[in-house]
Amino acid sequence: LPLKRQMTETMKKYLSPTIFQLLELIGEEAGYLSMRAYLIGGMVRDLMLERDNEDMDIVVEGDGISLALHLQKLYGGKVRKHDEFRTATWKHPSGFKVDLTSARTEYYDFPAALPKVELSTIKEDLYRRDFTINAMGICLNQEEFGELLDYFHGYEDLNKEKLRVLYNLSFVEDPTRILRAVRFESRFNFSMDEQTERLAVQSANNLLSVSKPRLSSELIRLFTEENASEGVKRMRELTLNKYLLTRPGDDEPVQKRIDCIYYWHSVFKEEGIAVNRSIWMAYMFSLTTGRVNDEVDLEGFCLTKEDVKTLNDLYNLLVSHQSRSIDPSLPIRDIHVNLATMKPEPLFGYFAIEFPDHNEKLFNYLLTREKLTRKVDGNDLKKLGLKPSPYFKEILLEVDIKQLENPETSKEKLIEWVSHKFLNK
Ligand code: CTP
Repeated sequence: LPLKRQMTETMKKYLSPTIFQLLELIGEEAGYLSMRAYLIGGMVRDLMLERDNEDMDIVVEGDGISLALHLQKLYGGKVRKHDEFRTATWKHPSGFKVDLTSARTEYYDFPAALPKVELSTIKEDLYRRDFTINAMGICLNQEEFGELLDYFHGYEDLNKEKLRVLYNLSFVEDPTRILRAVRFESRFNFSMDEQTERLAVQSANNLLSVSKPRLSSELIRLFTEENASEGVKRMRELTLNKYLLTRPGDDEPVQKRIDCIYYWHSVFKEEGIAVNRSIWMAYMFSLTTGRVNDEVDLEGFCLTKEDVKTLNDLYNLLVSHQSRSIDPSLPIRDIHVNLATMKPEPLFGYFAIEFPDHNEKLFNYLLTREKLTRKVDGNDLKKLGLKPSPYFKEILLEVDIKQLENPETSKEKLIEWVSHKFLNK
């Protein structure tokens, strides 16, 4: 029998009132249709960890699509349905989205294939999930609202800070769960239990059969949402890299680069400097030998336009490294003249790969540059009586350098300097 635990008070305390009311209402309407509805997965786990989570995953014993359409009829909003999987997403007029799934048992044709779906009960549904801490449910029907369903000791594992699979073939059926394990370990500072870790290592070769789009979305999350240093350390310990990359790099340099990117990535975040998602290319490339032509075969990965640009820029930086003669010992002026047009994301990779031992000055340059607000612009130059021309760009580059060398210089001083230096040319 599952351990009974009442969660209503916790739900009231940690969920927003709108979400709480939505859950109550879904339970009521499910009851009206003679279905049973359960909140499951990440939100249940995060409630217990007192962490924010707004992803409402609901499993119904009954038909998720009919319930979604019923809710839409009564309360408005929009429904998107996926008949094949018997699931629907209901977007409530408040903007919140609710995923409604029909309880199911998933049968896999072969490892890493999409599941085939058969309707079943909540217990079977929860049993097919990745880890015990993600396999708890909270009943939403009126009479039992707030009751925790914990068939597999998820609550206990949560307290022991353990990730545990529910059945031995879990990682074989869905090898992306190995990366999810690494991600949750790093996010919650949990660890896999012994048996789970052994299964992860044994099943790792199944990662080869996972589609690249699925791999990329897991890796992006690992690099951009979690502690990438910790994640990569675990990927190495579990020897996953050889199943993800054509040419994985050696352990030590790889870890050093990742630690470096992650450290500066965190510094930039703390300073409020935006670094876009395509930084995952810098992380990804850092896992390889780091030599162009030896690069990881990123074909088939889900790369956005921005990702492709970052990757190309990073390649170009590495290829032209010799001729560019960038060197951290150069004055800021020379560094900036060479790198002014490069965005931060490829530079993160370039600095970490090419200068593993002395890149602090380069990262500091980048940070100062990204924080810089230009004090002088084209209009200021016109006001000085200068005629707009391609020459403006050069002058403004010089002003940027002045500001980089001495960020405190006032606008007046900069204009004075411009007029002195360029007006009589
Ligand atoms: N799930 C699974 N196997 C996967 C992906 C998901 O069993 N490969 C299950 C888990 O029960 C998970 C739920 O589906 O809790 C929802 O998946 P998702 O939203 O990806 O995960 P969350 O646990 O909500 O994680 P996150 O907080 O990172 O969104």
